[in-house]
Amino acid sequence: MISNALLESYVDTDNGLISPNIFSSQEIYELELTRVFGRSWLFLAHESQIPKPGDYFSTYMGADPVIVVRQKDGSIKAFLNYCRHRGMPVCRSDQGNAKAFSCTYHGWSYDVTGKLVSVPNLNDAYKNQLDTSKWGLKQVPRLETYRGIVFGCFDEAVPSLDEYLGDMKFHIDHMWDRREGGVELVGGVSKHRISANWKLAAEQLTSDSYHAQITHLSSFGVYAPPELAGRRDISHTFPGDRGRQFNSPFGHGAGFDPEMAIPWVSIGGDPMLDAYEQSIRPEREARLGADRAKMGSLHASIFPSFSWLSGSRTCRVLHPKGLNEVEIWVFCFVDKAAPEEVKNATRRTGQGVSGPAGLIDQDDGENWALIGKSLVGRGPQMHKLPFNYQMGMGQGVTDPTFPGQMVPHLYSELAARSFHRRWRDLMTITDRWPMPTEVTEKRPNGAAKEGRQQ
Ligand code: FES
Ligand code: FE
Repeated sequence: MISNALLESYVDTDNGLISPNIFSSQEIYELELTRVFGRSWLFLAHESQIPKPGDYFSTYMGADPVIVVRQKDGSIKAFLNYCRHRGMPVCRSDQGNAKAFSCTYHGWSYDVTGKLVSVPNLNDAYKNQLDTSKWGLKQVPRLETYRGIVFGCFDEAVPSLDEYLGDMKFHIDHMWDRREGGVELVGGVSKHRISANWKLAAEQLTSDSYHAQITHLSSFGVYAPPELAGRRDISHTFPGDRGRQFNSPFGHGAGFDPEMAIPWVSIGGDPMLDAYEQSIRPEREARLGADRAKMGSLHASIFPSFSWLSGSRTCRVLHPKGLNEVEIWVFCFVDKAAPEEVKNATRRTGQGVSGPAGLIDQDDGENWALIGKSLVGRGPQMHKLPFNYQMGMGQGVTDPTFPGQMVPHLYSELAARSFHRRWRDLMTITDRWPMPTEVTEKRPNGAAKEGRQQ
């Protein structure tokens, strides 16, 4: 079994060096399902997806399938989607409304509270000797919500959701609570797979605006407003040195522009959406404050696997499906108070940006898949060379207007280092839940040392 010392050597955040082994080792992948996904708050659903009693949504927590169900009293519970008899999924549809979940193998049935309520042949074959009270669905022990976002956690030692989110709530509110009534899901959930390790996607969504000016240049040419459309030199409009990158010691991250309320690249140049954004400015200012209402959020991510692009109103949940396979679920959220035509236009724009048909997601997916292809199962010499994560080292500042530590440039790897530091600590400290502390980074010495090969 891989030692903690070796795992620690793979993630040298003090020097901004990370080993490719963390993206290509089957043993590490299997450990992180328990140590990272088993010990973090994970996105389950949004409350608007399950408004009525009996409404349910099927999803995953890491590699474990779960059902999220609205209860008769309005509360929400989540259960492993796993029949206690032989392990069949008790719910085989993506979403719906149910009075009970009946297993289609031998017919054990569970009510929406998870209780085993019906067992065929209980009287004759079991002679009433089966204690049904002991064989209910396994409930996810912790479930909390923030701004309608439902999170679940398997580990009792993890701090409350409120503490876990911390300063990140500032950025959550910017997207999820800017109007009275919050947001709701429009359209369905689109799902696509990329042959890549889930962390390549997660760290990018946490920390990487740097790639956009290259990777997405041609897509931005499509989304740009008429005066810029089709031009190859639009990167000067990106808010590089005006932007900021926020990081949280809990591994969350966000990139934003303090001065750009509406990022044109994301709303696709739709004049109706532009007018809508202008019309809600006073309400946003009243709810969020003038500084936050003025700010344009470019990307934001909650450790380990939940992120959003507020310009396109889309969020992504990363479900690992193997060492080199990730399933990306894309949701589009609109202000509940928005007019119907705005909701529809937002959904159409979101689909053009994200998901299987989205130009931006296709650009990103190609990069992650090519890295996955070049790493997994090959290249022992390549694996000796660490990746460089040194951008923005030693440049962290604080600013009373925006909470938390940040780098005063949109392009930085500060939040990526926090992501991997958090990942490393969860992977190597297993006798307790490792409470993170704010780290003050030093500037890199520039000397790249060779990583160890597993
Ligand atoms: Fe579910 Fe047998 S596996 S009833
Ligand atoms: Fe991208």
